[in-house]
Amino acid sequence: MKKILLFIFICSISFAQKKTIEQRVDSVLALMNLEEKIGQLVQYSGGWDTGTQTSRPREGHIELIRKGKIGSLLNVFGAEETKKIQKVAVEESRLKIPLIFGLDVIHGFRATFPIPLAEASSWNPSLVEKSARWQAIEASSAGIHWTFNPMVDIARDPRWGRIMEGSGEDPYLGSLMAVARVKGYQGNDLSANNTIAACIKHFAGYGGAEGGRDYNTVDFSERTFREVYLRPFQAAVNAGAATLMASFNEVGGVPSSGSNFLQTKILRKEWKFDGFVVSDWNSVGELIPHGVAKDLKQAAELGIKAGVDMDMEANAYYNHLSELVNEGKVSQKIIDESVRRILRIKFRLGLFDDPYKYCEAEREKNTVMSKQIVQATLQSAREAMVLLKNKNNLLPLKKDLKKIAVIGPLANSKDDPLGGWSQQGNANDVVTVLEGIKNKLGKSTEVNYEEGCTILGEEKNGFTKAVELANASDVAIVVVGESRNMAGEASSRAKIDLPGIQEDLVQSIQKTGKPVVVILMNGRPLTIPWIQENVSAVIETWYLGIQAGNAIADVLFGDYNPSGKLPVTFPRYVGQIPIYYNHKNTGRPYNPNDHYTSYYQDLENTPLYPFGFGLSYTTFTYSNLSLNKNKIKKNESLKVSVNVKNSGSVDGAEVVQLYIRDLVGSVTRPVKELKDFSKIFLKAGETKKVEFTITPEKLKFYDINMRFVVEPGDFKVFVGTNSEDVKEASFSVVD
Ligand code: BGC
Repeated sequence: MKKILLFIFICSISFAQKKTIEQRVDSVLALMNLEEKIGQLVQYSGGWDTGTQTSRPREGHIELIRKGKIGSLLNVFGAEETKKIQKVAVEESRLKIPLIFGLDVIHGFRATFPIPLAEASSWNPSLVEKSARWQAIEASSAGIHWTFNPMVDIARDPRWGRIMEGSGEDPYLGSLMAVARVKGYQGNDLSANNTIAACIKHFAGYGGAEGGRDYNTVDFSERTFREVYLRPFQAAVNAGAATLMASFNEVGGVPSSGSNFLQTKILRKEWKFDGFVVSDWNSVGELIPHGVAKDLKQAAELGIKAGVDMDMEANAYYNHLSELVNEGKVSQKIIDESVRRILRIKFRLGLFDDPYKYCEAEREKNTVMSKQIVQATLQSAREAMVLLKNKNNLLPLKKDLKKIAVIGPLANSKDDPLGGWSQQGNANDVVTVLEGIKNKLGKSTEVNYEEGCTILGEEKNGFTKAVELANASDVAIVVVGESRNMAGEASSRAKIDLPGIQEDLVQSIQKTGKPVVVILMNGRPLTIPWIQENVSAVIETWYLGIQAGNAIADVLFGDYNPSGKLPVTFPRYVGQIPIYYNHKNTGRPYNPNDHYTSYYQDLENTPLYPFGFGLSYTTFTYSNLSLNKNKIKKNESLKVSVNVKNSGSVDGAEVVQLYIRDLVGSVTRPVKELKDFSKIFLKAGETKKVEFTITPEKLKFYDINMRFVVEPGDFKVFVGTNSEDVKEASFSVVD
């Protein structure tokens, strides 16, 4: 009884708090005139006109803020700068409504963490949550209330440059990473001065761009849309994400920024989202070239009616909403709803209570690039690396080698390890691979460097010196990949092999017969079959941020045993794209003895590296896969257990992965779907029993009538070290 009373008491408190915010929102709304309401729906960016990003508002914006005609600024930051501007909003405007300052804190403000795709390779949501927490702590100290992150777009096409900003191809892993980041940014209390509002983006389907070309058309079935692309969004909404960003693309003929189906039906009605939606940069204006609006006025009408609350930079709402309301084309009610959602988040952030709490110059000074945050970037970088090959245990290298050759255009790059979207990341903060190796080793090891070639150039003059150096050394570490601006927005590539003549460089070094380690630095899966075939050791490091060099040296010399797993499939050649592990079986699955089956005449179907793949300096042996039941009812759960032994000689972490397959359904089901995983640490020789629970929720899918249900039938369960190397068992679901 006591417990029940306590529960009712707690509920009533939280209800009262919620009501307080709602009441406060209403009371502000009641004071606002139409111009002020529309002002809340308008967002402008700080100045870009000098060619570099500045932290100041653009000409004329201060006056607009004074008149209550701007609700938010992006790309304006700094404790003092934001304070100055906030002061105008809360001391000089009629209603004193605070501004919300947004910024793309994608993998750090100044202290740059690994790119999101790299962090997803850790398969460690709690690490990713901590990293987002640090990013929020740093950004909030510099006046930022709101990050346009996490990007939760599923991407099955590595040609798409923005694959680097997300968590890869899988909706389950993607959902966990989305939730981790939302929790990290928003913390337990959004009103604290070191938490920031998250913005899940890009809603939705943006990663499905045809041909992997950025901003391109997207068209898939509602089933695939809901099961694959929308899942991380739904998970992040359930986790309490404060805001969403509408995407640039269309899906099935309807651009997202004018899509009622997305912004209202799915997001608000089905998912009960009560935060606000911001457009992407000018995405409301782009309803014109999309061909669904004849002019900016019609674009504004479509955007606001669809449920896009805030217009980023299109000027559509600013210029046309008041006219549209006066003409009766847009109702006051729609405007009020959008304003209400934006005010609600401003209240939740505590901005009405203290609009300056993010503006303490002293805190900014002590927080940005603090020792602890730099240390956190190092741990994230270590866990993000994926060991792709290690023939004859070439790695880890001994620390007492006499001479080491460090070669390649990315080996001493200060800038590239920052990756795309590095915000205020500064190349001077970066530890290069060469520096990291030098930091690690004592004076008795000679470490020499040759660039060999540039990233994109065709000039082979540098090869001679690089080969000489390799010949004179005990080992050659060759660092190759993409420059950081080759992945990210508007950075699609039709060819995803190593750019320029870098592969030729690797081949020349390989010919010396010296042991070769290839370190990849890139923002997407690359097609590197020759390297996989010929080079003894390969490490995927993505872009690891400011501590890249130290983290890479930790792995090279065995101070950290790599534990990352690929969150995305690596194709052998571009012609295989889209290639992803959770594909359908088809009516004619590949059979080597039957010509009329699904395959390429000139290439095998299998990937270069499968989803979930990643090696360690130790080995893990799986045994005793068992289920506690072979038959369950539709509403019952099932326990799966497996013993995992560290059967090698060093301690290490393993990501134990669980997949299922529904063998017969009312609609076709993927050949495998990740449903759970567990990252465990095992001392050399140690065995652990790992347990998973398959709940009804994990078996549900959209059936032939688009109901999200469990269907009775036979299932396979697979457990293993990656999506291909698995043990399997079976169970049935009965009515
Ligand atoms: C990107 C968004 C980003 C926005 C603001 C757009 O070009 O698509 O992801 O948040 O710019 O910088």
